[in-house]
Amino acid sequence: MELKLVLSTAVLFCLSGVSATTNYFTSMFSLGDSYIDTGNFVIMATPVVPVWNDKLPYGMTFFGHPTGRMSDGRLIIDFIAEEFSLPYLPASLANSSSVSQGVNFAVGGAPATDVDFFERNNIVPFKLLNNSLDVQLGWFEQLKPSICKATKKEPNGFKNKNSCLGKSLFVVGEFGVNDYNFMWMAMKTEHEVDALVPHVVKKIAMAVERLINQGAVYVVVPGNPPTGCSPALLTARVSSNRMDYDGLGCLRAVNRVTRRHNALLRAAIDRLRGKHPHAKIILADFFKPIIRILRNPGRFGIAAGDVLRACCGVGGAYNWNGSAICAMPGVVACEHPSAAVSWDGVHYTEVVNRYIADGWLHGPDADPPILTAIRC
Ligand SMILES: *[C@@H]1O[C@H](CO)[C@@H](O)[C@H](O)[C@H]1NC(C)=O
Ligand SMILES: *[C@@H]1O[C@H](CO)[C@@H](O)[C@H](O)[C@H]1NC(C)=O
Ligand SMILES: *[C@@H]1O[C@H](CO)[C@@H](O)[C@H](O)[C@H]1NC(C)=O
Repeated sequence: MELKLVLSTAVLFCLSGVSATTNYFTSMFSLGDSYIDTGNFVIMATPVVPVWNDKLPYGMTFFGHPTGRMSDGRLIIDFIAEEFSLPYLPASLANSSSVSQGVNFAVGGAPATDVDFFERNNIVPFKLLNNSLDVQLGWFEQLKPSICKATKKEPNGFKNKNSCLGKSLFVVGEFGVNDYNFMWMAMKTEHEVDALVPHVVKKIAMAVERLINQGAVYVVVPGNPPTGCSPALLTARVSSNRMDYDGLGCLRAVNRVTRRHNALLRAAIDRLRGKHPHAKIILADFFKPIIRILRNPGRFGIAAGDVLRACCGVGGAYNWNGSAICAMPGVVACEHPSAAVSWDGVHYTEVVNRYIADGWLHGPDADPPILTAIRC
């Protein structure tokens, strides 16, 4: 009897906020890499190296022109912005005059680890952009006064220096994919890549805590996707030993490291929740939804023979070649991007991004789903 009463009160309490969810967040801020970059990489890299994702077929499915997004259309954060009636986030380096509803600090290629680590240890044979997690946090902190100045004062005149971020949705990540990919591409062993995991996770947790200390309340922290199933790594780390591949045809060692990253990230988030009980930290699963699609492509309208092949690429078993990547002369997209998982060998097609965003917003792919976090 008593239990029933408690339950129905909880249900009522949860449902009471439903009508307000569409406009729940006043703004959104994101840090991350190419999975959510909306233009920073193009701005940062164009003076330094040849850039391809500022050309068609990038953007062919949605927008109709390249935007700097590494997909045929919208990214996960675009679908999250749509859900909350927020504008698509402008790239921070574009110097947009309107930042009060959000800015995106993510840059393609950004690692969690400071970039000089990879250069100092000769892991990458080229100069990296200085775009790591800490640098992006610095950009946010620089912009914070103008973000908070633009928000209205509390009606009672009460001024709280942090209150301007209380109804903002923060997205931190994914981070880690670039840290590990630099290592895999340098032909490091599983043991060597794995050794970096605790450090990467610590960096992410420190960033989340730094944001909470500055007033962030809602923080989405995505884990890593199964990069062992990406055409780029499948090509670069090809093996003649069948035992190196799992039942889906993905690289076991790469996905093992990814799973360990995700497990350590979960533990770090649990610790942060204990330390900051008022914050709502949402752990978003970037791994399971992709595996679900790879296991049962037909259910998602994905062509079964093509699940591990890039839509936009050329040659080889996975339609990917690092010397001839998407949008380079002669490298074109497949006819139906919506029937492919991988857009360009590394990034996902819009249809996959939409599915992932849906699982983060409504479940089952986030703990808790974003809409649950704001309702209860
Ligand atoms: C943004 O502003 C900075 C500082 O004023 C400037 O150096 C940079 O070129 C601007 N970027 C763009 C894309 O306009
Ligand atoms: C990257 O930028 C940060 C912040 O501006 C700076 O402190 C750091 O020295 C830079 N690192 C490299 C490798 O240029
Ligand atoms: C990859 O593309 C380059 C440049 O077009 C070409 O020379 C090379 O043979 C290709 N490699 C493979 C494995 O197809």
